[in-house]
Amino acid sequence: MANTMTLVDNRNGDKYEYGILSGTRGPDVVDIRSFYKDSGMFTYDPGYTSTASCESKITFIDGEKGELRHRGYAIADLAGKHSYLDVCYLLMRGKLPTPEASKDFDLEIRHRSFLHEGILKIFDAFPSHAHPMATIGSTVMALSTFYKEHLNLKNEVQFKEMRRRIVAKMPTIAAMAYRNSIGVPAIYPDVDKYFTENFLYMMRAYPGGKLKRTIMGNEEIKQVEVDALDAIFTLHADHEQNASTTSVRNIGSTGAHPYVAVSAGIGALWGPAHGGANEKVIDQLKLIGDVANVPSYIAKAKDRNDPFRLMGFGHRVYKNRDPRAESLKGLQDQLREELNLDSKLLDIAAAVEEAALKDDYFKDRGLYPNIDFYSGVILTALKIPVEMFTPIFVIGRTVGWITQWSELVQDPTTKIARPRQLYTGK
Ligand code: ACO
Repeated sequence: MANTMTLVDNRNGDKYEYGILSGTRGPDVVDIRSFYKDSGMFTYDPGYTSTASCESKITFIDGEKGELRHRGYAIADLAGKHSYLDVCYLLMRGKLPTPEASKDFDLEIRHRSFLHEGILKIFDAFPSHAHPMATIGSTVMALSTFYKEHLNLKNEVQFKEMRRRIVAKMPTIAAMAYRNSIGVPAIYPDVDKYFTENFLYMMRAYPGGKLKRTIMGNEEIKQVEVDALDAIFTLHADHEQNASTTSVRNIGSTGAHPYVAVSAGIGALWGPAHGGANEKVIDQLKLIGDVANVPSYIAKAKDRNDPFRLMGFGHRVYKNRDPRAESLKGLQDQLREELNLDSKLLDIAAAVEEAALKDDYFKDRGLYPNIDFYSGVILTALKIPVEMFTPIFVIGRTVGWITQWSELVQDPTTKIARPRQLYTGK
C-alpha cells in the first residue's frame, strides 16, 4: 500500500493525496506542505496540538510512555550521571565528550563566563526589585549589541563561539539580575569554579567571597547542593518543540540575531503555563498553608467554574508521567535526608501530590506532577529565592534554545514561520 493519505472534500468529492513521512521514532507525519496550493484551504490547529513544525535530531519525547531522550540517551542516564556541561556538549555536538574534550569544554565555558563591562552598566538602569526574568531577558537582548557581527553560518569557529558564549554567560547574567533585584553589588565569575558552583557563588557570596556565610544567611556552598542544581540544569536542558523553543525557532526563522531569539525564549518561558509555574507552585503551597486545607484546594482545582488550577500538575505531552519529575522526586527524597530538611512546605507538597494522584479527576485527565512541581520544592529546600526559580530554568534551557536555533538555521528546508488564520471578524 502506498505511503500516502488521501483527503476527500465531501462537499464536492475532490481528493488530495499526501505523503506520509516516518521519523526514526514517534508518530508518522502527513506532509501537507502543498495543501493550500492544492486545495485553496488552510488546516486549523490552534496551539499546534497535531502539528510537527520542524524536523529535528536533538530530543525525542514519547508522552504516553513518559520517555525523554537527548541525542538517543535516556534522561535518567544523564541527570546526575554526567555533568550538566557534558550534557550541553552532547546536545550541541551530538555525542558525549571524551574526558579530554570535557575538560577543554569546561575550561572554555569558564573563560567565557565574564560579561562585557558595558553590560554591567545596563543593570544600573533597571529599577531595584525588578523581577530577574525581566532583567535577564533585556540583558540577553542587549548582548546582541555587544556581539553584533553578522554571523557567517559557514564560519565554524564563529558559529561555535556564538553558541558557547550564551551558555557560559547565562549564569552570570542570572546571578547579577538577582543581586540587582535586592540591591547588592555584583560578584564577578571565579574561573576556578565549575559552572554550577560558580553560579551559586555569584548569587550568594559577599563581595570578596572569602566569608563562610553568604548573603542568604546560610552556610558556604555544599557539594550536595552543587550536585543537585547540576542535575536540575540537566533536567531542564531541552524539551523538543515546547512553547519557548518554538518562540526561539520562530524568531530565528526571520534571520534575527540568535541572542534576540533566545531573549524571546526567555519571555515565553516566564509565563505561568510554562516555566513560570515553578514559582507559582510555591505561591500556591504557601496559599494552601496547611496540610488540613489540601482537600478544599483540590476541590477548587476540580471545579470547572473556578479558574484555579493546581500548579505543577499536567502537561501537554506527558499524560502518564513526566520522567524529569520522577528524577526530581528521587532528588527531593535524597536531599530531605542529606540536608535534614523538615519543611512545612514539603509536607503540604506531599499531601497535594498524594491527594491528586488518587483522585479520578486528575487520573482521568492524565494530570500528573510535572517538572515544575518538584523543582520549586527542591529549590526552596536549597534556599534559592523564589524569584530565581524560573531564571534557573533559563540557565538550564539556554543550551536547548541555542542548539535548536543552530539546527534551524542549518536546515535548508527552513522557511520563515508564518501561520495562517481562520478569519471570523467583520
Ligand atoms: N489543575 C486542574 N485541572 C487541570 C490542570 C491543572 N493543573 N491542568 C489541566 N487541567 C484540566 C483542564 O481544565 C482540562 O479539563 P476539561 O477536559 O474538563 O476541560 C483538562 O485538564 C485538559 O487541560 P488542557 O488545558 O486542555 O491541557 P493542555 O495540554 O492545553 O495544558 C498545561 C497543559 C498548560 C501544562 C496545563 O496542564 C496547566 O495549566 N498546568 C498548570 C501549570 C503548570 O504546571 N505548567 C507547567 C507545565 S511543565 C513546563 O512548562 C515546563
